[in-house]
Amino acid sequence: MSSVSGLVKGLHHISLVTADQEVNRRFYTEVLGLRRVKLTVNQDDPFHRHLFYADEKGTTGTAITFFEWPELPRGYVGLGSPHHLSYSVKTVDVLPQWQAWLRSKGVSVAGPFKRDGRLSIYLRDPDGVLIEITAKNPEGLAPDYLRMQENPGEEPKEVTADMKLVKFDHASPLTSDAALTHKFLEKFVGLESFVERPNPDEEGAKLAEFGSAHSPGFLKYLVAPEAKTGMVGRGNIHHIAVAVEEDEDQLKIKRRLDDAGIGNSGVIDRFWFHSLYFRDPDYNLLEVATKKPGYAVDEAPDRLGTSLVLPKWLEGERTEIEAALRKTDITGSRVWPPAYLPVPSAPESLNPGR
Ligand SMILES: [Fe+2]
Ligand SMILES: [Fe+2]
Repeated sequence: MSSVSGLVKGLHHISLVTADQEVNRRFYTEVLGLRRVKLTVNQDDPFHRHLFYADEKGTTGTAITFFEWPELPRGYVGLGSPHHLSYSVKTVDVLPQWQAWLRSKGVSVAGPFKRDGRLSIYLRDPDGVLIEITAKNPEGLAPDYLRMQENPGEEPKEVTADMKLVKFDHASPLTSDAALTHKFLEKFVGLESFVERPNPDEEGAKLAEFGSAHSPGFLKYLVAPEAKTGMVGRGNIHHIAVAVEEDEDQLKIKRRLDDAGIGNSGVIDRFWFHSLYFRDPDYNLLEVATKKPGYAVDEAPDRLGTSLVLPKWLEGERTEIEAALRKTDITGSRVWPPAYLPVPSAPESLNPGR
């Protein structure tokens, strides 16, 4: 059996659920400073939109994507419904600027909090998704030092080049059994690094961090032996995709899953990449996606995300699809700016309401 060790280098994209594409677009582009790189439909449910936001180039590991499902109820965090996601920024110095900027936009924000070798702030998006913005803290600065730097009188007028979200730092699902998750991710996903640490927001609880040799900890599970099953709905992470370079790397992982009798989707052509889906032992939906061919395969780089693109096999249904999307827009109850939910005082607590 060929080894899958080291094939996965990091995150590819993270996909979530939103109630409204226009509120979603304004938040991720105007407030978080990302670029919409694809406006398309959900290939498994083509009468609903699928929206992609990333850095200017659509770099692997920067894309956050949303299924627009206004009729879905609000979900809740638990096993199978991940807790939060985290973006990195260049330096801790921009965290106070982010806080001032977000507050000027009415966004609820908390922090900075000291993490293992990092400082982080937390916010919620219009659907209630918990988002962390984190930076390395090489000088070991105390959160109080950064709090002193925050000056609401001089809030930034835009997301400056220095403030830009660089790429995902990690995604945080829940595991009821870190040892079992470790075995699974090592054997079937080829993740080489595993570290357990205390969860600073939950006394006695742990974080289980998995990753590659070069990029440790891009999956930071919250260890929750007593956790109940969650529900994926509006405001939740739907699935987490990790990246491989080549189709053959993906096939090696598929063979591993097949040989062990673990259910998976088989390789699906998503047009901008190829996908393979399966669930971890706690029912979190994971995807292995190829880096190629990329978001510019069907649009010029300067036009990414500006008009509705459909994979070739759906072009014949364009009229019906556009009519269904217009109907969604008419029946939606759009409010801008949205009423942002508060951030819990201990953001990475297992009880997200805290
Ligand atoms: Fe985190
Ligand atoms: Fe995906």
